[in-house]
Amino acid sequence: MDGLRGMMLGSLAQMDEAAVHTWAAKQCYIALGNFMTAAALVGIDTCPMEGFVREKFDEILDLSAQGLTAVVCCPAGYRAADDKYASMAKIRWDKSAVVEHRA
Ligand SMILES: Cc1cc2nc3c(=O)[nH]c(=O)nc-3n(C[C@H](O)[C@H](O)[C@H](O)COP(=O)(O)O)c2cc1C
Repeated sequence: MDGLRGMMLGSLAQMDEAAVHTWAAKQCYIALGNFMTAAALVGIDTCPMEGFVREKFDEILDLSAQGLTAVVCCPAGYRAADDKYASMAKIRWDKSAVVEHRA
């Protein structure tokens, strides 16, 4: 892993703090996507959320002291039998609108 580690640290060293944060947040969203898919496969619902008060999450979870900050939160749990939203139609872009195939 030394080669990969050196490449990653070399790239990060050239970025300012805001760019590092943006990069790290994107890495987090890769994990989030995998988490949501894996959870769905075992029958667990998830609810990805932004729009929360980041500073409060950092404080409550003691993230700042660890040099961390929240970028997204994702509750997970078993679906309630009376969840009226569960049976609503899903709203999704057509695959052709979000996936481009090149020969
Ligand atoms: C408090 C709250 C905040 C949310 N914030 C976001 C958000 O920032 N971005 C987003 O894409 N969805 C957000 N959602 C939407 C849900 O996580 C979820 O994607 C949405 O209910 C549609 O899911 P579905 O199409 O799989 O049923 C939020 C939902 C709640 C309840």
